[in-house]
Amino acid sequence: MIRLMTDPVTREYLGGAVDYASRQALELSPLGLSWGRWVLARREDDTMIGSITLDYDRGELELSYALLPECTGQGFAAEACLAVLGWAQETLEDGHVIAVTQTRNKRSVVLLRRLGFTVRKGLEEFGTQQLLMERSLADPLPSRDGPVQSPSDPPPPQQT
Ligand SMILES: CC(C)(COP(=O)(O)OP(=O)(O)OC[C@H]1O[C@@H](n2cnc3c(N)ncnc32)[C@H](O)[C@@H]1OP(=O)(O)O)[C@@H](O)C(=O)NCCC(=O)NCCS
Repeated sequence: MIRLMTDPVTREYLGGAVDYASRQALELSPLGLSWGRWVLARREDDTMIGSITLDYDRGELELSYALLPECTGQGFAAEACLAVLGWAQETLEDGHVIAVTQTRNKRSVVLLRRLGFTVRKGLEEFGTQQLLMERSLADPLPSRDGPVQSPSDPPPPQQT
C-alpha cells in the first residue's frame, strides 16, 4: 500500500507521490481498513499488485484502482474492475457507478471505456482536467475476454 502511494509512476495522474512526512504518517495508519477497499493479489503467490476501491466520497458509488507499474499491461485492472463491478451488481442497490480520471490518463480512460463507462462531463479538479465517467450497474458487464476499445468508439469530449 505504501508503494502504491509513493511510486512516482503509479502516482503520475494522482497528484504525484506523497511526500516524506505523509509517508511516515501512512506507515502508522490503518491502511486499507475502510469499507470498499480490496487488495489485488496474484493467485499464484499472493503477491500484492495493486488495490481497487469503492466509495461514496462524491455521494455516488465511485470506482478507483491502481496497479504497481510492473503489473500494468496484462489485463489485471480490467479483471479486478469486472470482479468488483460484478460484486456491486449482486450486493449493492446502486443503479450506477462513476469513476473520475485525469483526461491525460489514457490507460485509465481506455480501461473505463472498455468496461462500458461513458463520459458524463469534464471537470477541473486539483488543477487538472478530469473526466467524470459513469456506467449503469443494471447493464451486463463485458466478458473478460471481450474486445478492447473499438476504433468506432467516439473519443472523450474536451473540457466543457
Ligand atoms: C489505470 C491502470 C490501472 C490501467 O492499467 P492497464 O494495465 O492499462 O489495464 P489492464 O490491467 O486492464 O491491462 C490492459 C492491457 O493488458 C492487455 N491484456 C492482456 N490480457 C488481457 C485480458 N485478459 N483482458 C484485458 N486486457 C488484457 C490489454 O491488451 C492492454 O494492453 P495495452 O496496455 O498494450 O493496451 C494503470 O495504468 C494504473 O494503475 N495507473 C496508475 C494509477 C492510476 O492512474 N489509477 C487511475 C485512477 S483514476
